[in-house]
Amino acid sequence: MLSENLNTPAHMPPVAAPGPPGSPVLGNLLASRRMDRLQYFAQAWQQYGDVMRLQMGPLPFHLLIRPEHVHHVLVKHVDNYPKGQGYNKLRLFLGQGLFTSEGPLWKRQRRLMQPPFTPRGVQQFATDMLRAINKTAERWQQVAESGQIIDVNEEMMRLAMNIIGRTMFGFDVGAEAKEAAKAFTLMLRFVGERSMSIIDIPLAIPTPQNRRVLKARETVNHFMDEIIAQRRQQAGERQDLLSILLNARDEETGASMDADQLRHEVLTIFFAGHETTAQALTWAWYLLSIHPLVTRKLHAELDNVLGGRLPTVADLPNLPYTCMVIEETLRLYPPVWGYVRDAKDEDVLDGYVIPAGSMVLVCPYLTHRHPEFWANPEAFDPERFTPERVAARPKYAYFPFGGGQRVCLGEKFAMLEAQLVLATLAQRFYPTLQPAFRPVPEAVASLRPRDGMPMRIQLRRAASTDASKN
Ligand code: HEM
Repeated sequence: MLSENLNTPAHMPPVAAPGPPGSPVLGNLLASRRMDRLQYFAQAWQQYGDVMRLQMGPLPFHLLIRPEHVHHVLVKHVDNYPKGQGYNKLRLFLGQGLFTSEGPLWKRQRRLMQPPFTPRGVQQFATDMLRAINKTAERWQQVAESGQIIDVNEEMMRLAMNIIGRTMFGFDVGAEAKEAAKAFTLMLRFVGERSMSIIDIPLAIPTPQNRRVLKARETVNHFMDEIIAQRRQQAGERQDLLSILLNARDEETGASMDADQLRHEVLTIFFAGHETTAQALTWAWYLLSIHPLVTRKLHAELDNVLGGRLPTVADLPNLPYTCMVIEETLRLYPPVWGYVRDAKDEDVLDGYVIPAGSMVLVCPYLTHRHPEFWANPEAFDPERFTPERVAARPKYAYFPFGGGQRVCLGEKFAMLEAQLVLATLAQRFYPTLQPAFRPVPEAVASLRPRDGMPMRIQLRRAASTDASKN
């Protein structure tokens, strides 16, 4: 048994954490399904505090909010908190890709896939990113001139998908990618629903839902196979992630990666690499549209440093406010809003027992709103991310990219992409929200605006951009 009393006096016998009462068999399962999951967790947190026990059917489940508890689970006692059973449903679709695998396989694949994602490694992708961003700028120019209203969430999904396809796999995504993305969303919703259900009908039983989800899996797998097949036919040496995966050889046997593993890695990167960044950018446009003072400051920085030209990687250190706008967006709307781990052995946190075999949930969405670490937590204030204020906070008060050994592989890639998108598009355009529209965050797998983000694109200045000069 592990034991760590972080905030309570020693020698107190551990007790069960407080939590909402539930029914004898289902516990809190039905109540948590009656409303939006995040709303349910937020309300329960207000009532029961920073370590809270929920009963999801037969499974005890602890919601951990404090930064030191997040650190305890993700970093300090990471061996006691594997990804475990909470990811079994996701494994039906992502197999043993980097997001879902564990142990030696995870370690080997992480080491293999790391090089393009280092702070220096990601810089090679800036030109391809800017080329894709410029295509969006061209579309937005026409949209702005026509006065049309567009769904900025769809726009950001398309842009992020183009970027991930080109940079990681040298693949120009077309119309078929939209079908694959729709199929992937269906899979994620299925995983979300099934992760909180008691009766688990095996996929082999042909219920209408199972048939739909298997069809979706087929669509997605077919798309991944197409990306891989196209590369196999191409001559020439690209140095992207797909070539790393294709050229990898087992140290002992010399064998190349098997077809399933390859497809699962491509699938993991394709979807983990665009969905999250697209949601972050969508929320950034929303927040900017309702905070004119922040927008004015952002515009002033961009005009000052860039004066209408395209940003380069070398400009980014001179655009700190642009970066802070993104960081503050990720605080209020972390695309990965919460995730689970298994407790292998019994643990004690601040005097509360975490039973062996139960699950814990860390939740950036709530930790990022903890009033002890964030004054006026609901306010959008990028200045919270000045270096002095960051240094004054505990590290895990803010963890949109996770932490410890399973920290997001694509963090530097995502930050580079988000800064280039914002710096390029915000110079020329000012998206405004439809006056009566209020987006509703929906915690699917990522935190999405449930009904999209309908916006009108206003023009700020004319183009003087040329991606090939970068
Ligand atoms: C704003 C954008 C993004 C956010 C907020 C985000 C967030 C996260 C978080 C919180 C985790 C850890 C999950 C856990 O521990 O259970 C994670 C893992 C991961 N992310 Fe991201 N991510 C983003 C962008 C990306 C991009 C662009 C890529 C790839 C190009 C990527 C690839 C991955 C992979 C492969 C993992 C699993 C890493 C491992 O377990 O070793 N992510 N991400």
